[in-house]
Amino acid sequence: MSKHPQINPLIALRHDLHAHPELAFSEHRSSDVVAGFLQSLGLEVHRGLAGTGVVGVIRNGDSARAIALRADLDALPLHEQNLFPHRSKHEGRMHACGHDGHTAMLLGAAQALAGNSDFNGTVVFIFQPAEETDGGARVMIEQGLFERFPVEAVFGMHNWPGLPAGQFAVHSGPVMACADQFDIVLSGHGGHAAMPQQARDPLVAGAALVQALQTVVSRTLDPLDPAVLSVTRFFSGGEAYNIIPSEARIGGTVRAFRAEVQDKVEAALERLASGIAAAHGVQAQLDYRRGYPPTLNSAAEATLCAEVARAVAGAGNVRCDLSPSMGAEDFAYMLREKPGCYVWIGNGMAEGGCMLHNPRYDFNDEILPLGVAYWVALVKRVLGAQEAQYQPLSL
Ligand code: NI
Repeated sequence: MSKHPQINPLIALRHDLHAHPELAFSEHRSSDVVAGFLQSLGLEVHRGLAGTGVVGVIRNGDSARAIALRADLDALPLHEQNLFPHRSKHEGRMHACGHDGHTAMLLGAAQALAGNSDFNGTVVFIFQPAEETDGGARVMIEQGLFERFPVEAVFGMHNWPGLPAGQFAVHSGPVMACADQFDIVLSGHGGHAAMPQQARDPLVAGAALVQALQTVVSRTLDPLDPAVLSVTRFFSGGEAYNIIPSEARIGGTVRAFRAEVQDKVEAALERLASGIAAAHGVQAQLDYRRGYPPTLNSAAEATLCAEVARAVAGAGNVRCDLSPSMGAEDFAYMLREKPGCYVWIGNGMAEGGCMLHNPRYDFNDEILPLGVAYWVALVKRVLGAQEAQYQPLSL
């Protein structure tokens, strides 16, 4: 099955997690599996942060230095279409983002580092719930994660389909975007569809507004400052062919890498919604909600992680030239609190080109050893005996 027979227990663990996917803040079984594994290694284990969160700690030597490594536990509400033996046993839930693999790699690292005296300091292993939608990282932080477990830096890793297995990608600065949401309610005056002069049609105003919103990015932002505004919902509540509805609702998402861009987009949404509504004689109400912030790697830690990745994967297998993703990631909340870096590990060219969140996606077991090796090398690099941390090699 694998070219790495010593990793087979980790494959079995990954398959077990894959077969039992759990959604945000309900990762009870996954949490039990992780805590049990860490306890079996003799680690200090703390449970209950954000409900199903698990924190394992290894303290070595006399150094006060400490770093955190983070994995995510949750799955997605998706019907798995794979037919292999470890396919989801829970209809409508699926590990389609590889968090099963992330958890297995971090447990593998804990196993390799438990009882290992090659470093001096503390390693905090964070297994967080609810990455996909509800910000489990934010909740763990609000409940005192970094007060209880003070660290100088925090590190994350996500598998990346399309990036060849055996490779890493490291970004200095933005790696993932923010994910804001907006809703606009257009209130008009319903009436008979044959007598539009007696109504104020919110649907026509909404159609004009959807068109106008396409100019927010193209006409109000610096072309070199990336952003996306996508309208993804448009409802009127109208069912009949002969009734002009009294209300229309438009919703969508905004992605960007900078708070100033989020501010500009929100202001443009407000301006266009109220202006277009006024032009059509209807009322507009905007609700703009900030979601996950942009994921921003700090420069020194990105340089460090690129060096560690080169050491374990080979110099030619670390990409530092890839564009960031407009997707979002709640590790962003941890990077708002601490310096750190979130890297991509290549998941390979999946069969059928399956990307993340696809019902035929699967984490690539062949990359488990590389992910474990990266975590172990990172710990030894930062907390190791040699004073070689944070060397100024440029990305
Ligand atoms: Ni994910």
